[in-house]
This record gives sequence, C-alpha cells and structure tokens, in this order.
Amino acid sequence: MADAPVAAQAFPHDDARSKKIARLWAGSMLTIVVMILTIVVFSSVHLGLNPPSQLETVDSASLHRGGEFAEANLGTMIAADGSALVRVIAQQYAWVPSCVLVPAGVPVTMRLASADVVHGFLIQDTNVNAMVVPGYITTVHTRFREAGERLMPCHEFCGIGHQAMWAHVKVVDANRFPSEEARTQGVSCAR
Ligand code: CUA
Repeated sequence: MADAPVAAQAFPHDDARSKKIARLWAGSMLTIVVMILTIVVFSSVHLGLNPPSQLETVDSASLHRGGEFAEANLGTMIAADGSALVRVIAQQYAWVPSCVLVPAGVPVTMRLASADVVHGFLIQDTNVNAMVVPGYITTVHTRFREAGERLMPCHEFCGIGHQAMWAHVKVVDANRFPSEEARTQGVSCAR
C-alpha cells in the first residue's frame, strides 16, 4: 500500500535520542567488560586461581623412557631462586611419586602428565585442582603456607582402581627439606 510505515510515524527519527541510547549501551557494555576483567585479574592474582594450561604436549606412551618425566626428575626439585618444581606422573592406579615432599613457604610449580587415561587431582586446603589429560602437561602454581600432611586424591574416575588412587603431600619447614639434594634430582617421601 501507499501508506507510510507505521513505525516511522510512531517513533519519528530523533538523532539526539538515538545517540543517548547508543551511549547508554556502550557504557553498559564497557562496565560489564571492566567488571569481568577485574574479577579475572583479582581471582588469578589474589585467590591464586590458574587458568587451564593444557597447551604443552607430551608423549604419554614414552614418559618413563626419558625426557622431563624420567624417573630421576620425578618428585621435587629446587631451582636456583629457591622455588620448588614438582613433577608427578598419573597412572592407573597410582601417583608417582605417591608421597610428594615440599618445603613450606616457597612458590611451588607442579607439572603432571598421565601415562594412560584422564586423571584429576586436588590437594586439600589449597587452590590445586586440575585434570591430567594424556598427551598434555598440566601445570599449576601454589604455595604451602605451613608444614603438615595433605591428601592428594584422584578425583576423576579412571577405572576399577580409581578409589585407591591417592598420594600424600608432606609439607615440611624449608630448613628440614633436603634442598641440596633436590638441586640435582627429584626428591620425595615415597617408600
Ligand atoms: Cu586416577 Cu581416578
């Protein structure tokens, strides 16, 4: 028909009003983006949350044959700056080493790899909680404030022996940790 569009008559073009609404929208979106970024930065810096880190690949079938996860590297090593690097292999149905020895009060980086299927691990009373997916290295950062024993269960169903897959984390005062030995090889409290 020849009638003018109804909408155009009911809402005549109003440039100032459109601009106001557009500014309102842009302002709201900017506020939301800033809020999300603030939460991300706050939770990663203050609460110690780690984003998933499964970008590093590893050959799960040959973990024991050498490389980063060779037997001598498993357990805890101390870097030149005093921080600890813990390497653990997840396999059906055990953590290797099954007793992780770490010094209290120093930054700890944990690197885990699975030798078979998907496992998951957490450490009581810490921010540590991640999946260990075959083919990838899982890296988490934490710090143990005080000495004591903590449990590290597998929390991803990985087969018939899943419920028996536990490790212990033994946190000791830094002066009781064998730091010198741990500069050249991985140390643990297993066996
Ligand atoms: Cu490993 Cu459940």
